[in-house]
Amino acid sequence: MSAALAQESGGHLPAISIAGVSMVFDSPSGPVTALKGIDLAIPKNRFVSIVGRSGCGKSTLLRLICGLVRPTVGQVTVDGMTPDLYQRDRRFGFVFQEATLLPWRTALENVALPMKIQKVVQPARREERARELLKLVRLQGFEGHYPSQLSGGMRQRVSIARALSYDPEILLMDEPFGALDEFTRQEMNEELVRLWQEQNRTIVFVTHNLAEALYLSDIVVVMAPHPGRVRAVIEVDLPRPRRAAIRQGGDFIARLARLEEVISHD
Ligand SMILES: Nc1ncnc2c1ncn2[C@@H]1O[C@H](COP(=O)(O)OP(=O)(O)OP(=O)(O)O)[C@@H](O)[C@H]1O
Ligand SMILES: [Mg+2]
Repeated sequence: MSAALAQESGGHLPAISIAGVSMVFDSPSGPVTALKGIDLAIPKNRFVSIVGRSGCGKSTLLRLICGLVRPTVGQVTVDGMTPDLYQRDRRFGFVFQEATLLPWRTALENVALPMKIQKVVQPARREERARELLKLVRLQGFEGHYPSQLSGGMRQRVSIARALSYDPEILLMDEPFGALDEFTRQEMNEELVRLWQEQNRTIVFVTHNLAEALYLSDIVVVMAPHPGRVRAVIEVDLPRPRRAAIRQGGDFIARLARLEEVISHD
């Protein structure tokens, strides 16, 4: 990690360091530069949102962080180690853009499965914990339902419960609330902040909803497309705890307008 990156994250070792990263994919119409020259330090225990137009490389960035893809150029380190090593050692929590549940398992079984595979929770506690998590995402009563019997938003909530099941220190979330109605989305925003504040977690959260990004985050990373790059890193110094009503305040609305302006430069 460079001295500049350490400085950016307040002198602490960042949870995630992305240094000089470019990502080029092969496609039928030739190489696509999904990301170019990304330098980003994500400090530990902060809530960081990534926003930007469709195709600017947000999902690719999350996939690089957790080692699902490797950069063409540059380096990603997580807690000072490679993403692969981190994943083997401690594991990321990942909520994908589309819910990825096993169709032949019930909601309860889907949530309990990672605990079983990783043997991180005592067998006797697994079912109880899976029930607690389903309750947390407001799905009590649906434990025995299969994914095909749930709505898109409900499936996504099962994915969130599953990602939380083994208490990951780093939670990567790719538009997790896109399929939810506005009311449920607000509720999930509150729950997520509560969860994040209760336990020390670093959250990297991709969203298209700028108000959601401002409301949730300490830092908003604005990306620009073609090629995907970081346009701005904005500190959100709104005091916490933040009440839902803060969104109607002049301070919030002014920040939202500035954020919209930064994005509309493209
Ligand atoms: N596996 C792949 N093979 C080829 N091209 C890819 C691949 N994955 C991503 N891309 C390309 O990289 C660019 C960035 O894609 P990415 O999915 O990261 O964007 P995004 O910001 O998440 O978009 P959205 O907001 O629509 O989800 C796009 O041009 C996309 O076509
Ligand atoms: Mg995406």
